[in-house]
Amino acid sequence: MTSRIPYRTLSGNSRLAGVMGWPVSHSKSPRLHGYWLAKYGIDGSYMPLPVEPKNFQAALISLRNLGFSGVNVTIPQKEMAMPECDELSDRARRIGAVNTVTFAKDGRILGDNTDGFGFIENLRQEAPNIAFCSGPAVVLGAGGASRAVLVALLDEGSPEIRIANRTRKRADDLAAEINDPRISVMDWPVAPNALENAALVVNTTSLGMVGQPALEIDLTGLPPSALVTDIVYAPLLTDLLVQAKNRGNPIVDGLGMLLHQARPGFHRWFGIDPDVTPELREFVLSPD
Ligand code: ATR
Repeated sequence: MTSRIPYRTLSGNSRLAGVMGWPVSHSKSPRLHGYWLAKYGIDGSYMPLPVEPKNFQAALISLRNLGFSGVNVTIPQKEMAMPECDELSDRARRIGAVNTVTFAKDGRILGDNTDGFGFIENLRQEAPNIAFCSGPAVVLGAGGASRAVLVALLDEGSPEIRIANRTRKRADDLAAEINDPRISVMDWPVAPNALENAALVVNTTSLGMVGQPALEIDLTGLPPSALVTDIVYAPLLTDLLVQAKNRGNPIVDGLGMLLHQARPGFHRWFGIDPDVTPELREFVLSPD
């Protein structure tokens, strides 16, 4: 009997992973990891794992006991995962959240945060000729995504980082907590002089996302060589990116951050550091 539908079966040795969250139905991770599993012909599976927050701890332990290789953790469980880990990477500790869990052979639970890695790798791949840490960075927002971006930019050698957030206190608290003399807090909305001599502008707020208000910013003070990027990827070209592009600034959209942050987990669980390609971008963007 033959079938025209390609069908991949699992074996008794299949490696298992997935994404825990509540809700998880919006997650693109199963599609993303599923693409790589098929591309590299790996005997494994990556599943959506809807877990109510009250069941998070029990579910995590169960997945370990069931022999999973690891899991991604998404909203609202990134912070909840911290105390459940036996070991945290330096960057997870500094970001204060875990998005990638690996179950070691000896049963220990290892927590990492790859969001900042994804952010930097996306810029490296999409803007290979731009030295985005050659001058000050302006980071809009002071939430969880901002923390990951700040830690990554500091590690990347950014000489100065200016944060601006609607709720000023949140930016002040974040700057105090990270406690690096390269970080300063600016007023919101961002004044044109806050953009002077910047090499990079990053939107980490939800403004500009489908269903959210637009990010209103006057880019007049920004050097035309500065790279402008957004962590919002729905829509792919946010108003901020369109405005920047129209005045001649190089831009990078936010989809690649999602794709690259998935690489370290896939590598650890399935043994291959996967490629991020235009085909993958198209596949992840296409309807399920
Ligand atoms: P995440 O973990 O994705 O960063 P978050 O912690 O909820 O999510 O942070 C959302 C960010 O978007 C914050 O910087 C938030 O600003 P506040 O700290 O003032 O809430 C920002 N944000 C969301 N809606 C906004 C709006 N309408 N205007 C300005 N900033 C907004």
